[in-house]
Parts: sequence; structure tokens; C-alpha cells
Amino acid sequence: MKELQMHIKSKEKSYPIFINNDELSNLKSKIIDACNNKNYIVVFSQKVYKLYSKVLDFPKNKIFVLKDGEKEKNYKNYIKILNFALSQKLKREDSIIAIGGGVVGDITGFVASTYMRGINFIQVPTTLLAMTDSSVGGKVAINSNFGKNLIGAFYQPKAVFINTNFLKTLDSKQYKSGLGEILKYGFIEKSCNSDSEENLLNFLYENHEKILKKEDYIMQNLISSCVKLKIAVVQQDEKESGLRKILNYGHTYGHAVEKLTKFNKYTHGECVVEGIKFAVKLATNLNLIAKDYQFLCNDLIEKYDYKDLKKFPPEKYIPVMTTDKKATNNFIKFILPTKYGTVEEYDFTTEELSEIVKS
Ligand code: GLY
Repeated sequence: MKELQMHIKSKEKSYPIFINNDELSNLKSKIIDACNNKNYIVVFSQKVYKLYSKVLDFPKNKIFVLKDGEKEKNYKNYIKILNFALSQKLKREDSIIAIGGGVVGDITGFVASTYMRGINFIQVPTTLLAMTDSSVGGKVAINSNFGKNLIGAFYQPKAVFINTNFLKTLDSKQYKSGLGEILKYGFIEKSCNSDSEENLLNFLYENHEKILKKEDYIMQNLISSCVKLKIAVVQQDEKESGLRKILNYGHTYGHAVEKLTKFNKYTHGECVVEGIKFAVKLATNLNLIAKDYQFLCNDLIEKYDYKDLKKFPPEKYIPVMTTDKKATNNFIKFILPTKYGTVEEYDFTTEELSEIVKS
């Protein structure tokens, strides 16, 4: 059982992140304690509801079930959940609980951030990606026709309950998606300025077989290492004005692939890994990293058995990159590796990028 603390200095606010494999039948009482035994509603992912509603045993009248899939993170469902909270007469001191993956966490968190100008929000991530990335750090959002996560807030939860028992039923596609974000943490570890440097890259290298087999003890340690890094980054830069951008390692090209394949061909994590490979290649072309580090990066990715995704020519992906919400004044922003476990931000014009990818 591990308990980590996120402390947001500017708000004098802290919250616990519990990581364990306790009996799921005990989880409800712990969550209700975190709600100070006040009123609450629970938003469940449909898949998770089907598998775990019995063991978690929340009263039916307090449950809202959200269908699965990124397209459900929309304005209509946002209003439906808000109306459900209103119909349950939730007050400011009450809580909204999200149980599911990133989609449920993001939309429910956005409801919590706007319901009566902010109500307690509790995250219970059930996918590997949500456990290691989206449930921690306060990014909440919904999608619009203009793009993903364009309507949202920074709204920190009151508590996060990570229980690795949920991983047992996570399908391998979603599991591998989470591993993509985990590899990212290994490649950025030294730039996170975390007190607890653990050599995550080495851990990922040495334990790849156990990790691919979801060995519970290893997974708890791995999730804890990633969450520690996320805490370190978010504590230094909650609103992504500087350091937090390193969490977007692999995302510039990764997002372009997601957009070009209409978000339905590959998982987010697969695209992040493809984006990491792209960033490693870019850094090599720019002589930012040594050859042996390039080999190490690609070798580690291969150990996790990621297949190459569909290739796109620069004239397809560069225009998509310029419309990304992270691009500014015609500069495309990349987080690139510079040495072992270390990354830095670089900006390129479209012309510069076209030249570099040719070399
Ligand atoms: N998922 C990236 C971040 O939380 O900043």
C-alpha cells in the first residue's frame, strides 16, 4: 500500500493518491470516507460498471453510466451528468466520483469543476493510462467538433484511488496504450526534477517481461514511479506554462497520427510511442543525441513489442501539427531527447521541420 501526496503550493492544496491492490469490496467505504460521508454521485464507464458494479456496491440511484469511447466525452453527456448531479441535489460540500478510464475521468472532472463553481472530485482510474497519467494532475476536459480537449479546466481532484485489481480485466490493447505513456516517463525522468530518481528506464528494461505479464507487485512499483514523476512536474508547473510541457514527449507527432487516422485506428499510447520514435529520429538528425542512446531508445520500445504504424509523408502531418493547440505563431513545438532520460523543448517553423525530416 502506497500513499503519495500532490501538493499544489499556489492553492495551498494537497491530495492523496493511494496505490494498492486491496480487496475491491473495501473500496466503496474508503471512497465514502473521502467524501466526508456526505452526498455523492458516481459516474461509471459502461465496461467497468458491467464488471464491477456488484463488488463496488454503490446504490443504483446515485450512478450515472457513460458509454465507452472518446466520442462520449462530449457536450451532450457533460450536460446530462450536470443534470444528474442537479437532480440528486448535490451541494457544494458533496462529491462527484469518476470510476473508469481517461474519458470518464476527464468529463466527470469537468462537470465537477463547473458544478456550483466547483465541487469535490474523486478519481478512481481503472485503465493503466488513467492510473499513470490522466487521473493525476488536474487536467479535465471535453471534446468539441473543433478538436480534442478544447473545453476544459485545471481542476485538481480531492483524492485518487489507484487499485491494480482493475488491471486484471483490462484488454491488452488498452494495457499497451498505458504502457506507451509509461515508456514516456522513462525517457523524461531526469528532466522532471524529482527527488526520487529511480532510473525508470533501467527498470523498464530489466522488467519488461514481468510488466507485459501484468505482475502485480511490479505494476504497483511502476505506477508509483510514474505518479511520483507526474507529481514532481505538476507541483512545479500546474498550468503547463513551462516544465509540464515535457509530459507531451511523443505527443506532437503522436497527435498528428491520431488525427490523420480519425482517432479510431490506433490507441493514444500506440501513437505516443510512434511519436517518441519520431522524436528520437529528429534528435538524431539534429545531432542532439549520441548513436548509442538512439539504439537504447529504439531497443526498449522493441522490447515492448510495438509495431510500426502507418507512415505519412511530411506534407500530410506537418499541416496537422501547425493546427495543434500546442503550436504557437507558426512554430511547431517538439519535446526532444538530449541525453539519457532527459528532454528539452524545441520550436521549428514548418520549413525548418521539412528540411530536418528530409536529412
Ligand atoms: N497528460 C499530460 C499532462 O497531464 O500534462
